[in-house]
Amino acid sequence: MKKKLVYGAILAFCCVPCLVGLATAGDKGPAEITLQSTIDPAKTPKPAQFPHGAHQARLECKTCHHGKGPDGKRLSFAEGQKIEKCETCHNSQSGLPETVNTFKGAAHALCQDCHKKNKPELAKCGVCHKK
Ligand code: HEC
Ligand code: HEC
Ligand code: HEC
Ligand code: HEC
Repeated sequence: MKKKLVYGAILAFCCVPCLVGLATAGDKGPAEITLQSTIDPAKTPKPAQFPHGAHQARLECKTCHHGKGPDGKRLSFAEGQKIEKCETCHNSQSGLPETVNTFKGAAHALCQDCHKKNKPELAKCGVCHKK
């Protein structure tokens, strides 16, 4: 009986760090994401591969994530800000400027732009849109 209690205590103790670990990993989102428009679906969908984890290792969250202020303007990312899917705001109904009122527009402006600046090779369609 006593032994059982001890084992129980050890088990409970070991599980706490595991759960905390999972919660932290969850906040960072998935390591690999397939991006695809769902609000404004294309006739011929062109999903994009996104190694989120590899980008997180090099870049700050605020490079990509941001919110929308009460004035409808871009709100810079701050610790604790709710991270939403790009298309929640970047869609055809959003009233945002035409250059960023689709997932494609916003994604290309962010992803392709940085890739182009780093290395022209990285801006080729097949880098993100794998066949
Ligand atoms: C750096 C990554 C990246 C590169 C390079 C890139 N795209 Fe994209 N593209 C995306 C992302 C992310 C989306 C938005 C998610 C989605 O719908 O695929 C997107 C969306 C699109 C869409 C809309 C697809 C849909 O299903 O709604 C088209 C069309 C498209 N891209 C064409 C191109 C073409 C053509 C090129 C090369 C000239 C290119 N892309 C290069 C990342 C990229
Ligand atoms: C290079 C750009 C980039 C960087 C840097 C980045 N993210 Fe992301 N993140 C994305 C994109 C794109 C998505 C997918 C959004 C979507 O599905 O519309 C995403 C998704 C997420 C999600 C899931 C959101 C959802 O509702 O599906 C979380 C959580 C998240 N990121 C957290 C973080 C944190 C925390 C950091 C910093 C440690 C970070 N990201 C850094 C681009 C980035
Ligand atoms: C909560 C709403 C919201 C979410 C979620 C959001 N954005 Fe934005 N984004 C905005 C607003 C508002 C602007 C400002 C548009 C304008 O110029 O008036 C903006 C601007 C941009 C711009 C234009 C350049 C700049 O930085 O001002 C890009 C590119 C962009 N967003 C990409 C993304 C990507 C990629 C994601 C997903 C990782 C994302 N956004 C998620 C609201 C959002
Ligand atoms: C601020 C800069 C920056 C942004 C924003 C960015 N990337 Fe990247 N990305 C890079 C760099 C730099 C590399 C190359 C890293 C390397 O060679 O190790 C890369 C690599 C990649 C690769 C792997 C290429 C390969 O074959 O190895 C993919 C796929 C990719 N990015 C997709 C995206 C998508 C999709 C987005 C937008 C949601 C995005 N990236 C946003 C800088 C960026």
